[in-house]
Amino acid sequence: MATVLVTGGAGYVGSHACKALAKAGHVPVTYDNLCRGHRELVKWGPLEIGDISDRARLDAVLAAHKPEAVMHFASLIEVNESVANPDLYERNIVGGTQCLLEAMAVARVKIIVVSSSCAVYGTPLKVPITEDESWKPINPYGVSKMKMERLLQAAEKDHGLAWVALRYFNAAGADADGESGEWHTPESHLIPRVLDVAMGRAKAITINGTDYPTPDGTCVRDYIHVADLADAHLRAWRYAADNGGGMAFNLGTSTGSSVREVIDVVRATTKRDIAVDIGPRREGDTPALVADSSRARKVLGWQPQRSDLATEIADAWAWHQHLYG
Ligand SMILES: NC(=O)c1ccc[n+]([C@@H]2O[C@H](COP(=O)([O-])OP(=O)(O)OC[C@H]3O[C@@H](n4cnc5c(N)ncnc54)[C@H](O)[C@@H]3O)[C@@H](O)[C@H]2O)c1
Repeated sequence: MATVLVTGGAGYVGSHACKALAKAGHVPVTYDNLCRGHRELVKWGPLEIGDISDRARLDAVLAAHKPEAVMHFASLIEVNESVANPDLYERNIVGGTQCLLEAMAVARVKIIVVSSSCAVYGTPLKVPITEDESWKPINPYGVSKMKMERLLQAAEKDHGLAWVALRYFNAAGADADGESGEWHTPESHLIPRVLDVAMGRAKAITINGTDYPTPDGTCVRDYIHVADLADAHLRAWRYAADNGGGMAFNLGTSTGSSVREVIDVVRATTKRDIAVDIGPRREGDTPALVADSSRARKVLGWQPQRSDLATEIADAWAWHQHLYG
């Protein structure tokens, strides 16, 4: 049984990781400033309120809990917000991670697993995307995640940090027992926005662009179940502890789903009408982002269990009704 500091543990993916850690017999200590997270999602261990840029607070929490490792989810996550306010994202993701790594070095915490993103790749040359794809982020959010990964490489050299960067594609679904799920305000992710239409919380879903070079003309994304992401974090922690050094893994299903496919599965699952508006392409949208996750499958032994679209949407629908019903 070990203690793990979970930054951003009051958020969507972090809360699922806390549940997985607790289920495996560990103590997840959530460290979150609650700027976007929810106290109600911290159910599997203590909550320490604090900002990752607050060095004194981090020092105190690390000294009090003496974690064996850190799982670092804390981050702002809105691409549009990052375009409007790049400095905010630089401070939050790059400055915040730097502060966290310095505090860890002083406290002699040697292992970190971080949430990175497929946003580091920008518009890839090849799909499915492997970890060897070059970094060409096309928005400040992706640039900040790229810089965050560089900080890990530097800390490995400077302090012998063992790190894993998990580059998720699109997180989806909710806890199968209904104990946590996606809860963002405002919500920019497709599945909960379509579920908003099913619930009558929104009139219609707008499809931005129907003329992409994809099978049905709408953008294709790779939806990975949040419980499968949580499982990957536990495996990544073990990997880092056993091997040291640093490694990045793509986490996705290797199959893409189009916007129209998502809407169709929501219709079938909820048995509700989903009104659709057609809008223009959004600037910066890439036609298809699909992961090649064979490295995670081979090296971590990771095997997604709930990452088919029907299961993801059924789990998300149950959570959405619980939250807003
Ligand atoms: N959701 C996705 O589809 C997705 C895809 C790729 C990568 N990611 C990454 O996964 C991580 C988790 O995403 P999520 O969807 O759970 O987001 P979320 O907004 O639900 O959770 C993020 C949490 O971080 C906290 N936080 C933000 N800034 C902080 C700070 N300075 N100090 C302390 N706490 C802070 C927020 O309060 C929130 O609880 C993020 O790093 C995100 O970039 C998410």
